[in-house]
Amino acid sequence: VNGAAPEPAPRRRGVAPRDDVALMEGYYSPQIDVDVRLNTNEAPESPPAAFLEELSGGIAGIAFNRYPDREAVALRSAVAELHGVGVESVYCANGSNEVLQSLLLAYGGPGRAVALFEPTYALHSHIARVTGTDVLAGRRDTDYLIEEGELERVIAEGERTHGGANPVLTFICSPNNPTGRVEPTALIERALRRAPGLVVVDEAYGQFAPSSALELGAVDNLVVVRTFSKTWSLAALRLGYAIAAPEVVEALFAVTLPYHLDALKQLAGRLALSYGDDMAGRVERLVAERRRLVAALGGLAVEVCPSDANFVLFRPTAKDAKQVWGELVDRSILVRDISTVPHLEGFLRVTIGAAAENDAFLAALRASLA
Ligand SMILES: Cc1ncc(COP(=O)(O)O)c(C=O)c1O
Repeated sequence: VNGAAPEPAPRRRGVAPRDDVALMEGYYSPQIDVDVRLNTNEAPESPPAAFLEELSGGIAGIAFNRYPDREAVALRSAVAELHGVGVESVYCANGSNEVLQSLLLAYGGPGRAVALFEPTYALHSHIARVTGTDVLAGRRDTDYLIEEGELERVIAEGERTHGGANPVLTFICSPNNPTGRVEPTALIERALRRAPGLVVVDEAYGQFAPSSALELGAVDNLVVVRTFSKTWSLAALRLGYAIAAPEVVEALFAVTLPYHLDALKQLAGRLALSYGDDMAGRVERLVAERRRLVAALGGLAVEVCPSDANFVLFRPTAKDAKQVWGELVDRSILVRDISTVPHLEGFLRVTIGAAAENDAFLAALRASLA
């Protein structure tokens, strides 16, 4: 039509993400192509060759045209057997991160709060926020352990601000990432007695530690979370699990997508558990390497935190941590730079690798600090 205003350019419409989501920063762990990767607490060894062979043979037996077992009974039974519990007490998911997400989907949400103790694994608070759950963050003491008084303070705050059943989840990461120490059993027991909701003990590094909350047996508000990513040399598989009361497992299933565990993963997880001796050997080797690395760090200008995990937190005392991190990268060694994380200023975290990798790290660190 003559004289009509030109059509405006098509505008990109669409809905914006939730305001709180738009402000969120995703989880970020920089990956750089280096020879020695000691930044994400993975296992240095690949899984046993016999396991991989058995897995390859097993693939032909999978009915790929069919949906997998929705309840993953064979896999969950194998995990149950490992821990001496009933299958109804086991929930499996795609990595322990998904276990944590299921816990927050089932028990968190608007108007609800969880307790945790910083500095700790960032995904606890991140997933809480993604699910609209409030986060009550307590502080660890100067040794990075949780003091009973602080536990009490944060739980009481949850009850006061959110009502009697809050905090609905109290997260205890033990051994704690990124600081490394296991919580004394007495602290876990105290939390189980005092917390109005569930106590979630994240034991991603549990096998490297001298004690585990699993030793407490069946306690109705205890949830122990573990993963195949570290000890079982299977970070690529994405498989984790929780040991919890059957009612909790039922609640987790209620928020889980149907058929969330593919058939290959169910098979691989089940087979891996029949290689327990190989895995125990790997843990022993890593614990021995950890001892060796910590002893060697003792002779350098760094402050070292005691560790019950497969990583060690350390702080260069005579040189800027970022500069040390960069000089390690220059020598093709990647450690985790956490030097700007609140309460961990100046610290770096190194994963325990194979002996040769640890030697390369120590040589590069010595050179950087010289
Ligand atoms: C404390 C802790 N929990 C859970 C996870 C997640 O492990 P995944 O999802 O690989 O099982 C990690 C990974 O680094 C971790 O450090």
